[in-house]
Amino acid sequence: MSEFNFDAPINRRHTDSVKWRQPEDVLPMWVADTDFLAPPAVIEALQRRVAHGIYGYHYESPTLRQTVIDWVARRYGWEIEPDWIIFPPDVVRGMNWAAQAVAAPGDAVLLQSPVYGPFFEIPRNGGFAMQDAPLVQDASGRYQLDMAAMEAAVTPETRAYLLCNPQNPTGRVFTRPELETLADFCLAHDITVLADEIHADLVYSEAPHIPIASLGPDIAQRTITFIAPSKTFNMAGLKASVGIIPNPELRERLARAARGVIPPMNLLGMIAMEAAYGEGETWLDALRAYLQANRDYLLDAIASDYLPGVRMARPEGTFLAWLDFRATPWADAPARRSLEEAKVMVNEGAWFGETGKGFARLNFGCPRATLETGLERLRAALLQANG
Ligand SMILES: Cc1ncc(COP(=O)(O)O)c(C=O)c1O
Repeated sequence: MSEFNFDAPINRRHTDSVKWRQPEDVLPMWVADTDFLAPPAVIEALQRRVAHGIYGYHYESPTLRQTVIDWVARRYGWEIEPDWIIFPPDVVRGMNWAAQAVAAPGDAVLLQSPVYGPFFEIPRNGGFAMQDAPLVQDASGRYQLDMAAMEAAVTPETRAYLLCNPQNPTGRVFTRPELETLADFCLAHDITVLADEIHADLVYSEAPHIPIASLGPDIAQRTITFIAPSKTFNMAGLKASVGIIPNPELRERLARAARGVIPPMNLLGMIAMEAAYGEGETWLDALRAYLQANRDYLLDAIASDYLPGVRMARPEGTFLAWLDFRATPWADAPARRSLEEAKVMVNEGAWFGETGKGFARLNFGCPRATLETGLERLRAALLQANG
């Protein structure tokens, strides 16, 4: 039994939460934050700083970099150096910033749908062409890289590859051989990897997270990695994340692109980050066990056809389930139908690209009782829709 109680229901209505500002009869299982309290160490560190009462301009805490270095070494086995680290407020900002530092209007960036919706805005924001080499499902429903599609999509204009690992929404955590294939591809085509590894801490026992930049010095020099405590410790509203850039020339390019444009991380975010990475590890291990049990509960429900006709890719990481409704009466717009008919709010698969049509993403980062209620509502509505 864990010393942390992830079963405790916490009312998030009336907190201006994006996820929860919904009509009272709607159960929100969409936006990717969890319904758990942050670790006690984070809450206490924030309370201490808030009690001081003055929140003026701040320097970086002198111990923060070492805390990040130790976290990355302990959790992902990657040795990084203090001057490789930058602190953007959030990962979406970091990815856009990095893309605009390595590519110019008219260049191209490569991605793999289905993928986190804001990835599609990166080429739009920078004036780059978008090249999509979709992931493909094998017979078991597991998503796989399609290297033939990658080779077909890439052109001499391709400057960056937008990697999402652990992958949102499919839950894939790429294996070392897969990452080596991707790294070889990017080195062969002279492409910089922009690696969104925001879900790195949320992987299940069978799937360790391997930062692509940790594979070796060549790919490290061609990669800009982003991680954050935001998903892990449920503090996305505090705006503090981490970028890791081993290549000094790329660091200099980002520094130039940042001036007057990219704000530093938030003061309270910095305090929370240091407490989380410094003292949050026991909590995280308990959280991962809880989420893994939720995942397994959901997998068992789907395997027994509890949601008639719905299939699911097995998440190896993240608290997100990618549900395939294509064989159900909701295939046209599963999230809209779920909201209208089950009062359960999930993300529409089409938000993750063309290849997401007929799918929906459900967030299981919630107490088990909430997950059970969501599934009960979905089952009842699907049974009715099936007639
Ligand atoms: C893959 C991925 N990247 C980035 C984000 C957003 O991160 P941030 O709030 O740091 O911009 C999310 C949130 O769902 C995500 O899933």
